[in-house]
Amino acid sequence: MNKITVSGGNQNVRINRHIYGHFSEHLGRCIYGGYWVGEDSDIPNLRGIRGDVVEALRRIKIPNLRWPGGCFADEYHWKDGIGPRHERPRMINTHWGGVIEDNSFGVHEFLDLCDQLSLPGLPRCEPYICGNVGSGTVQELSQWVEYCNFDGISPMADLRKKNGRADPWQVRYWGIGNENWGCGGQMTPEFYADNYKRYACYVRNYGGAGVYKIACGSHDDYYDWTRTLMEKTRVPNGFLLNGLSFHYYTIPGDWQRKGSATDFSEDEWLATMKKAIRMDELVRGHGAIMDEFDPDCAVGMIVDEWGTWYDVEPGTNPGFLYQQNSLRDALVAALHLNIFNNYSRRIFMANLAQTVNVLQSVILTDEARMILTPTYHVFDMYKAHQDAHLLPVNVESESSGGVQSLSASASMDAKGAVHISLVNIDTEKEQPLKINFDDFTVSPSSRISGQIITSNDMRAHNTFENPQEITLREFSDTTVSGGAVTLTLPPMSVVTLKIT
Ligand code: AHR
Repeated sequence: MNKITVSGGNQNVRINRHIYGHFSEHLGRCIYGGYWVGEDSDIPNLRGIRGDVVEALRRIKIPNLRWPGGCFADEYHWKDGIGPRHERPRMINTHWGGVIEDNSFGVHEFLDLCDQLSLPGLPRCEPYICGNVGSGTVQELSQWVEYCNFDGISPMADLRKKNGRADPWQVRYWGIGNENWGCGGQMTPEFYADNYKRYACYVRNYGGAGVYKIACGSHDDYYDWTRTLMEKTRVPNGFLLNGLSFHYYTIPGDWQRKGSATDFSEDEWLATMKKAIRMDELVRGHGAIMDEFDPDCAVGMIVDEWGTWYDVEPGTNPGFLYQQNSLRDALVAALHLNIFNNYSRRIFMANLAQTVNVLQSVILTDEARMILTPTYHVFDMYKAHQDAHLLPVNVESESSGGVQSLSASASMDAKGAVHISLVNIDTEKEQPLKINFDDFTVSPSSRISGQIITSNDMRAHNTFENPQEITLREFSDTTVSGGAVTLTLPPMSVVTLKIT
């Protein structure tokens, strides 16, 4: 029988809620149509931002939002996105379809979106702004920080007030460029590291916003980038950065033929699972290099782009990266979140690419209609881990095609409830499972509740015509005996348990 052991750990590692973060770029219909419909739209909106999307994201307690890109960030000039909308310049979105960007969604709109996404009584949805290093200037980024964060008399604070916002927003998270080894300027790690230091030097900590500077990091197994950045930003009393980013996408095929989002074989299912699980090896690899320089984990790993990347839906603009989202995506999301939870000693933040209508979205829209994807439901199931204490798990499981069939993570929340998240990637075999507890007592009087997402059809997905094809169901099939919990995970399933 498969076995998982949950231990108490030292209770010192917290699963940062920012691991459940998102990323939204000016790309395809993510911003325009996804969030922004404009104040005059028939689609219900608050100051131009659609209400249904905001409400859905609030339900999964979105902790942060990265914006404006992605590759777009390194050709975005923030001053184009302030002031009266009809006066804002138009530009070409060269990376994403060559379409006209009219800058109607800019700095104020983004920060209003983050405010709207924040739930009363809970920490706000933190804006995470990625600055332009590839085609921008040090002064431009420095002024952006001043515009957002300075409370007093200064050229940028005055401009902000003139544009209708008296109080600074206190934006904490600032990215210094995006993928500067590629679309962000084709730089070598040495050249970027030097540039990082110049740009980051002028990202000032106005008003004690506690500015958190995130350097552009590596991708896949480009370990040299991570090593160079850690080496070159080290100073006698620490580092000139707070976080180092990392990008990895799950692509079933290769960049030329990535594969379809909904029309795939069992082999492609397994290939996708294996590629998703590779995140574990990569996080360990980059983490080991960071450990060499920074054993106390002062520098956070920021996995600010992750998720599935398929061929676009037939008939859609290839530059818009619009793809459907099936049960397979739910499992990919759950595998990643288990990995991130388990490495939360080092991982400070992660951002799924991209929230609405682009890549592995949690929401799809079609004019006034909106549907939730299987990935959305996984974020809903896993939200209990946000800011909870990590409980280390040891997984002994059967294998499916050479990798472990099961994946797990666990945490204890502030009220003492234990949450366990489980994934069975096998397409045919259900997995009987015994969960043992090293430092807790689970007895027949313990209350166990659960949720499951699964289907007999690996390609199952929600459509605008059938939005509930795949959704969350209650899972109550657990038995407690001898201090252990036993259950059977159906094939292709994600299960979360809450034990109180
Ligand atoms: O998420 C789509 C693109 O993927 C981003 O713009 C870029 O950073 C990455 O290559």
